Amino acid sequence: MSDELIYEVDGHVAYVTLNRPHKLNALNAELDELLAARWDAIEADPDIWIAVLAGAGDRAFCAGGDIGADATAQPPRIALGGGLTGIGGPLRTLSKPLVALVQGYALGGGFELAMCADIIVAADTALFGLPEVKSGIIGEAGVVHRAIRQLPHRVALSMILTGERLDAQRAFHFGLVNEVVPADQLRTAGESWVELLAAASPLAQRAAKHAVLSRAGHPLEVALATKFEPIEAYASSADVVEGRRAYAEKREPRWGGR
Ligand code: COA
Repeated sequence: MSDELIYEVDGHVAYVTLNRPHKLNALNAELDELLAARWDAIEADPDIWIAVLAGAGDRAFCAGGDIGADATAQPPRIALGGGLTGIGGPLRTLSKPLVALVQGYALGGGFELAMCADIIVAADTALFGLPEVKSGIIGEAGVVHRAIRQLPHRVALSMILTGERLDAQRAFHFGLVNEVVPADQLRTAGESWVELLAAASPLAQRAAKHAVLSRAGHPLEVALATKFEPIEAYASSADVVEGRRAYAEKREPRWGGR
């Protein structure tokens, strides 16, 4: 396996690290394919409950699609970010919680990839941006659709139309990121989020994530009237029993996740 993507598993947590720091972790076709394989592996492994996505080096989380790649080459079969963004190919949705650790540049497709996470922990060096229009590029345009949904309307539009960047503190102010920490504390802060996530029932998390994301754009009445298959399946899982038993016994639950 190429060393441009580092994949590590610790207990129930998968750590995925873009490892092209010399190219500011820009996403090329190979990285997209490696990522796609990893998202599939994470999704298929019942023992992995949480995923963490990071970029190597201190300059960038990810500077977007590789604009240095051979423009005449065949388009990649895999969508940007291994399909997590759904740009340029089929959308791959991760049912498990995803934490992104963002330092330095998160631009274009890199910004988009960060926005695919459920939790974003930002270093104080983080800079989010859509530089596309500045370079006269407007490709698959997926990133603009997420930006307008995850940021206040005019903040997103000003970024989309000017290419100006959003720094970590303003990103926090607008609720784009969950936390801003000094750059040397990014990993530690990420681990604190992992601990919080790991304390919760992984099956309940997945069922809740599915329900909320699949009906986020619908009227409340539609969302409330929807029957969610993962929630119904969860009702007969061993973790429901364990949660009640732990409460009665005044102890922390020991989740099975199956
Ligand atoms: N694709 C391919 N390579 C990239 C890249 C990208 N998106 N972003 C940065 N790199 C490469 C640079 O080419 C350079 O490689 P080199 O040393 O082999 O020449 C290396 O990463 C470091 O980047 P550099 O431009 O030297 O750093 P900088 O501090 O001067 O500028 C940026 C940083 C992020 C402002 C600048 O690299 C940039 O504008 N990158 C493009 C970002 C972009 O448009 N992303 C959206 C793509 S649609």
